[in-house]
Amino acid sequence: MKEKLQKIKEEAMRQIQASEELSKLNDVRVAFLGKKGELTAVLKSMKDVLPEDRPAVGQLVNDTRAAIEEMLEDTKKKLEEAELNFRLKQEVIDVTLPAKRNRVGHRHPNTVALEEVERIFIGMGYEVVEGPEVEYDYYNFEALNIPPDHPAKDEQDTFYINNKILLRTQTSPVQVRTMETHPLPIRMIAPGRVFRSDEVDATHSPSFHQIEGMVIDKGITFADLKGTLAEFAKELFGAGSKVKFRPHHFPFTEPSAEMDVTCFKCGGKGCRFCKGSGWIEILGCGMIHPKVLKMSGIDPEEYSGFAFGVGLERIALLKYEIDDMRLLYENDSRFLAQF
Ligand code: DAH
Repeated sequence: MKEKLQKIKEEAMRQIQASEELSKLNDVRVAFLGKKGELTAVLKSMKDVLPEDRPAVGQLVNDTRAAIEEMLEDTKKKLEEAELNFRLKQEVIDVTLPAKRNRVGHRHPNTVALEEVERIFIGMGYEVVEGPEVEYDYYNFEALNIPPDHPAKDEQDTFYINNKILLRTQTSPVQVRTMETHPLPIRMIAPGRVFRSDEVDATHSPSFHQIEGMVIDKGITFADLKGTLAEFAKELFGAGSKVKFRPHHFPFTEPSAEMDVTCFKCGGKGCRFCKGSGWIEILGCGMIHPKVLKMSGIDPEEYSGFAFGVGLERIALLKYEIDDMRLLYENDSRFLAQF
């Protein structure tokens, strides 16, 4: 009996040691200690043992059982620990690894310039309105006092959809649309994309942006135009900026002018930036032609107004001292990231 128990114990130990998984270990437990297990079978055969031998044999069986259980328990702990360590290793997160840099973009220089212009005019009580990029010839030319055979149409050659519809060459048609739909008085700016069939170079693009401005009320004079645009220049280019107006011609304004700003780079002394003149041309403007007012149903005897048009890219280029307009459209992030 003793030998049998010793054998069972040895065999159990061997199988426990060979168990590499918890489930195997459990199989071993069942095989030896379970209801139909080997040790249990020995226990059942106690009835065949002589009564006087029973205590000793019983003690032996119990010892064997205890030894196997202890071994099972120890091995279980070891296997559980190993399994935990394995999982910890597998699921480890290396917090010392440098994080991937989160690259956040920013507004395009054009957008920054536009928002700046909008801020200035909204501050002066202007409304921001928009008009279509695909426009009627009527709004783009005729209603602005540019009849079909006018030479100004040559300078603003564009892309025609058909005889009557084209891609607008300027934001000025929004003046007409606003006059037709808005109650008086009017104070608006109209930013947007315009098109011309120009060759691409450092200062030209077939598609660029303008910001139109228009004020119509009773008693508006050229003094209002000058005061407003001088204030605009100061806000945009700095308090020291001065402006000057040169006579010019636009079919839809009378009188018309171009406005120059003192070069913000050299303060007016003359430098490479302003080509030595000390001044930088910035926009076209004028008093709205009485014919234009009349065509849109406004009585020029009662109302008068001024208008202006400024190139958005021009402002962005000046503000950021960029010398080639193409850079604004190439969307090279190495370039754009600088602003
Ligand atoms: N639309 C003109 C252009 O594209 C710019 C312009 C000049 C707009 C005078 C105006 C203005 O409103 O009064 O060249």
